Amino acid sequence: MADANADKPMMAVLNHKRPSRRPIWMMRQAGRYLPEYRDVRAQAGSFLDLCYAPELAAEVTFQPLRRFDLDAAILFADILLVPHALGVELAFEEGRGPILKSVRSSEEVKQLQRRGMMKRLAPVLETVDRVVSGVDKHITVIGFCGAPWTVASYMIEGGTSSDRRRARTAASLCEPWFCHLIEVLVEASAAYLVAQLRAGAEVVQIFESWAGDLGAIDFRKWSIQPVARIVELVRGEIPDAKIIGFPRKAGLGIVDFASETGVSGLGLDETVSRQTMKSLVSDGHIVQGNVDPVRLAAGGRCLMDDINDIVKNVSVDKHIMNLGHGVFPDTSPDNVEMFIDHVRYMDSNM
Ligand code: CP3
Repeated sequence: MADANADKPMMAVLNHKRPSRRPIWMMRQAGRYLPEYRDVRAQAGSFLDLCYAPELAAEVTFQPLRRFDLDAAILFADILLVPHALGVELAFEEGRGPILKSVRSSEEVKQLQRRGMMKRLAPVLETVDRVVSGVDKHITVIGFCGAPWTVASYMIEGGTSSDRRRARTAASLCEPWFCHLIEVLVEASAAYLVAQLRAGAEVVQIFESWAGDLGAIDFRKWSIQPVARIVELVRGEIPDAKIIGFPRKAGLGIVDFASETGVSGLGLDETVSRQTMKSLVSDGHIVQGNVDPVRLAAGGRCLMDDINDIVKNVSVDKHIMNLGHGVFPDTSPDNVEMFIDHVRYMDSNM
């Protein structure tokens, strides 16, 4: 029987096989840097309305694929849809980012409504289904969620915060309500990822955007362990599920994260050195990233230098090309084109 993944470069790499070419995708590949995204976003009304409108969310997922020679589509949604589906009030305000009704006590954690959560997320699963049906066969469809610590930090702070001090303090004190919140998020996130995989996503990524907040003890307890538990719960349902973990700015903590969570691949932010990247690869891990999004926005020679250095250091069968974090909204789409062209050029000359 023909291997359905044979023509999918990203799946080949995650299955430890040689891909037909180096897979490329970008975090925030759909978004404000694209004029056609801004049009659909205006048509949808709010950002949340867009996330819950499957036809429009699928449309913005497709937009970067029409412009660029990418190898994956990431579901258009947000990590904060999980708390929203658990009953937390959420709004995205222009220029301020997300605003949530804060959760900071046992009573507030108990009020989270696990029952009915999947029903509230049904439109997102419909988006997955539409995306899977609409992409070319070499494209891998990626679903995602936020890691419990990162999502909890937004819930506790009530939105974006400069130092997440309140959440970090609750974590370090092991406040019982905090432990309970993490447990709720572990279970909800695992169920949500399983649902995305059943709807046709082939890979899921767990975004731990605020990994860098946690001291060593708390990083193990509140990032590595909850993510390991999600991986275990998802694989309990779907044994060979492909899961990428992205512990952003975890420093050398990424080494323990890699060996202890059981993820299939590791997203690397732009601060991870090529030396660390190579040692993760020699330990048997698949790595993803880590072009500096600042260099993508700046373009030209500094972008090419970053790409050259990565391509020369990490072989095509161990690496998924991506950024160290999302595309900045002021990035020119021409730079994205140049990024992809240059990766293709370098690969064909290796
Ligand atoms: O293309 C993709 O990457 C898929 C869609 C996606 C979005 N958010 C869309 C989005 C994904 C994977 C995310 C993940 C996400 N959301 C993270 C983890 C990754 C990271 O950036 O660290 C986090 C922390 C969030 C929470 C969030 N969503 C914030 C803090 C903000 C406001 C800041 C901002 O960039 O506006 C958002 C809004 C958001 N999520 C936008 C998009 C395209 C911009 C909304 C708009 O159109 O106005």
